[in-house]
Amino acid sequence: MSDNKSNSVKNTALSTLNAQNIKKLLKNNIEVLYFDTIDSTNTHAKRVYKACTTPTLFVANHQSNGRGRLGRTFYSPADTGLYMSLLLDVADNSEDIICITTATCVCVINALKELYNVAPQIKWVNDIYLCNKKLCGILCEAITNENTHKVEKVIIGIGINISTKDFPDDIKDIATSLGFAHNREELCAKIADNIIAITKELKTRDFINEYKKHSMVLGCDINYTENGVTKVATAIDIDRNGGLVIKTENGLKTLSSGEISVRIKK
Ligand code: BTN
Repeated sequence: MSDNKSNSVKNTALSTLNAQNIKKLLKNNIEVLYFDTIDSTNTHAKRVYKACTTPTLFVANHQSNGRGRLGRTFYSPADTGLYMSLLLDVADNSEDIICITTATCVCVINALKELYNVAPQIKWVNDIYLCNKKLCGILCEAITNENTHKVEKVIIGIGINISTKDFPDDIKDIATSLGFAHNREELCAKIADNIIAITKELKTRDFINEYKKHSMVLGCDINYTENGVTKVATAIDIDRNGGLVIKTENGLKTLSSGEISVRIKK
């Protein structure tokens, strides 16, 4: 996905984003750092994590180098999206952090449903869709302790298209936006509070059922790639670590990362 500022001019500008307002809306004690523009809130969190002693939320109105999974870019025009990264200390639950992306999907889904009465779905593993188009991407990155090699912090990056109308050519047919949300601060605070709550209960894996309920791939025939070869399977379950259980011609298999596409029935 490429950055294209000329497109953002045509998009509907939203309310301002303000660190103090977000802070007031938060139920949890989270430091909030706001940027009119930054390369990437995830990259910035990585740069400064050593100086952060409490949960810290990095929020931007525009990203010049928004990053997605698998080395992709994330289109992040000014005024029309929400780009946020929550930096958390996870030293106490590092074994459960494997499913943080799965848990975050549920946090975003619940915030969207509660605030806007929409019906978003999850495309395994990290994408939130609305009406079969991508609304939101999630990029979770772990920071490992240099001595213990255990995960000590996690950066949970979330990008949501709020009122973007004109997407660059490479994503215009597959991306969508909420189109109507005017209070990015409220959405930002709700998602962050949801994440704090869910990280206290990661061990229970209660959120896996919620994830399954909103999955747009379970029961569908999918394409997945193995050793550079595209194969066909049926998506049948999500395991307790957020892996996708698929039925292949050679039996059951669990995908833990990568990308799938849903096969359209002819
Ligand atoms: C994806 O679609 O593959 C994930 C996209 C994640 C985008 C968010 S926007 C806030 C944070 N900063 C980034 O550079 N990326 C994440």
